[in-house]
Amino acid sequence: MNRARGIFVTGTDTEVGKTFLAAGLAKALKELGLDIGVMKPVASGGRRTENGFVSDDALALAGAIGAPDDLALVNPVCFEAPLAPMVAARLEGVRVDLGTVWQAYETLAARREFLVVEGIGGLLVPLDEGATVLDLIVMLGLPVLVVTRPTLGTINHTLLTVQHAREHGVDVMGLVINAVGPVEPSKAVETNPAVLEEWGRVPVLANFRYAPDPGAHTETFAALAKLVDTRCRARGAFS
Ligand SMILES: Nc1ncnc2c1ncn2[C@@H]1O[C@H](COP(=O)(O)OP(=O)(O)OP(=O)(O)O)[C@@H](O)[C@H]1O
Ligand SMILES: [Mg+2]
Repeated sequence: MNRARGIFVTGTDTEVGKTFLAAGLAKALKELGLDIGVMKPVASGGRRTENGFVSDDALALAGAIGAPDDLALVNPVCFEAPLAPMVAARLEGVRVDLGTVWQAYETLAARREFLVVEGIGGLLVPLDEGATVLDLIVMLGLPVLVVTRPTLGTINHTLLTVQHAREHGVDVMGLVINAVGPVEPSKAVETNPAVLEEWGRVPVLANFRYAPDPGAHTETFAALAKLVDTRCRARGAFS
């Protein structure tokens, strides 16, 4: 049996707060006493450096926990063009090597107690010819957190994501509602969490308001880390 040793953070879209969530959750899980590793398996929009392309998301994740792991393990595949990885790879005339991603994941999973892994875009972003982010999730065998917007439109995007993940056998642990910008109070914002839970048959594990000061989210991250820890233990992640 594949014992999940981590969590995969996906989202309904790009720029919904996956890095914000994955970095904060990794830090809070570390503060619970877990030996945490982080991963951004495939990134695009990387910056050119002496050591190749570097992903800001990978740096943010590693920075959140002061991860000593080699960046080549944290982020084994990175493209310069800010595009879906398959499109960036085609432009560069290369392929996304999911074997390299798997090896990096296995190395980190053997080294760390628990991994927080950030996806790229949403579930159906193409990674390689014929392979999407969803295929990566299935390959890693991790339960998923879905980061989603609080505003009108989130019901459709969220339910599509949850339903499609489940149809492929993915364990959707919960939703995290997150506001990347100021949100006007509205009936939609007020009613969305309960509607998502009812129609998605999935719990909303946290609801992050918009607050640029990272310290404003400490308690919400601590509560979320406890929920994720408990739910992962129930799934045998630490046995
Ligand atoms: N709750 C929040 N309060 C304030 N700012 C936030 C919040 N959540 C996210 N942000 C900011 O919004 C921006 C987008 O968030 P983030 O980079 O985490 O999204 P993402 O889903 O990881 O994007 P990408 O698809 O590019 O990986 C970032 O500048 C982040 O710091
Ligand atoms: Mg990100």
